[in-house]
Amino acid sequence: MKKIIKNGTIVTAADIYQADVLIEDEKVKAIGQDLSDVYAEVIDATGLYVFPGGIDPHTHMEMPFGGTVTKDDYESGTIAAAHGGTTTIIDFCLTEKGKTLKNALEIWHAKSEGRAVIDYGFHLQIVEANEQILQEIPAVIEEEGVTSFKVFMAYKNVLQADDETLFQTLVTARDHGGLVMVHAENGDVIEHLTQETLKAGNTDPIYHALTRPPELEGEATGRAAKLTALADSQLYVVHVTCKEAVEQIAEARSKGFSVYGETCPQYLVLDQTYLEKPDFEGAKYVWSPPLRDKSNQEVLWNALKSGELQTIGSDHCAFDFDGQKDLGKGDFTKIPNGGPFVEDRFSILFSEGVKKGRISMNQFVDMVSTQAAKLFGLFPQKGTIAPGTDADIVLFDPNVERTISASTHHSAVDYSALEGMKVTGQPVTVLSRGEYVIKDKELVAKPGAGKFLKRAKFDSAHTNKQETASNRS
Ligand code: URP
Ligand code: ZN
Ligand code: ZN
Repeated sequence: MKKIIKNGTIVTAADIYQADVLIEDEKVKAIGQDLSDVYAEVIDATGLYVFPGGIDPHTHMEMPFGGTVTKDDYESGTIAAAHGGTTTIIDFCLTEKGKTLKNALEIWHAKSEGRAVIDYGFHLQIVEANEQILQEIPAVIEEEGVTSFKVFMAYKNVLQADDETLFQTLVTARDHGGLVMVHAENGDVIEHLTQETLKAGNTDPIYHALTRPPELEGEATGRAAKLTALADSQLYVVHVTCKEAVEQIAEARSKGFSVYGETCPQYLVLDQTYLEKPDFEGAKYVWSPPLRDKSNQEVLWNALKSGELQTIGSDHCAFDFDGQKDLGKGDFTKIPNGGPFVEDRFSILFSEGVKKGRISMNQFVDMVSTQAAKLFGLFPQKGTIAPGTDADIVLFDPNVERTISASTHHSAVDYSALEGMKVTGQPVTVLSRGEYVIKDKELVAKPGAGKFLKRAKFDSAHTNKQETASNRS
């Protein structure tokens, strides 16, 4: 059914203005003053912001990891995302050595088909770059619409790939319009420090952070950036946590290389001391890279503001405290790595960023939606509000005050890493391609309403540094 959103304030990465939005056939049909259509339902957005739906470029739904499987599947995870103002996720599809990329995609399609309430795409892991895999990459770009490829530089003996694999993936991506993503930590040295630490009898959650120091994130980030420069390719560094990594990205960008970076809400508001919580509660905060010294928070906010980092991903990788995180009691290496943030990503950035004066409203939209659309081949279909775009829209109350809690969240996981945190602002109504997903804070969409997105190739024209920097000034 047609809809007109009236009396709201539209905010995009470039503008803030009052206008009506007419929605028809999944798209924004028109934007203007005093729009009317007798067949349209009128949605009154008085006092609300009209934002493009959030795009979360980093989730792990129903993913096998750490001897278990992440708690949120495509249904509960996308419901949580939608309540939090996100209308698109791009999830990581893991691959297995010796199997084809298409085989991995089939597994991920089977998990997600008919389950999601919002649209979704996949990034594809590359764990080995043999001839068959390198030949398959162009095919998945062209035929499957999967245009981004993830290489883990850490998790030795599990997900980690070697530098040759990273380099060959970069070269192949360059030739065929892919974007290479890295988890940048030096997995070999982490493995050595971990074994030494366990030998010394240190098994508590805090040792997870102490065996993964920021120098090892900085080193791997710099290595990946230099390999990208050598390959004349493009790189997106996921979950950047610290000064050492930001400096490497900034240096590569200052030399004109196509290196982009993401950080996550958890690194902006939590710090390493959370891993010291008693009674094994520190395990709730075990993920990789680990939480850092608090001084890094300011570094990350400044990098977002200046445009050195472009996006906010949630790295939603949710494990219950009871029954999953406790696999690591007595051995921190067995704590499944990951935390639940898909529902809070948008609101944390608004509350801690916009409300506290750290970023502007346009920068907020840029980080939580527009830049991810541009980098991952979804712009301008998604990531903004303009005639012809998908009507993925969040009506957001900027003044409501609330407290984050597992007792009110929609994720299936049994704890919130942000329990008790007060935030200002909340999505009220969320539309995906013009249909309600959330109406007045209640879920109305049915599983399967969300569709798989075939994404376009990486296009540097959307992502040149000048454009990003001026958006952010
Ligand atoms: O600890 C984390 N981040 N778990 C998810 C996998 C990854 O490294 O992104
Ligand atoms: Zn990672
Ligand atoms: Zn992740």
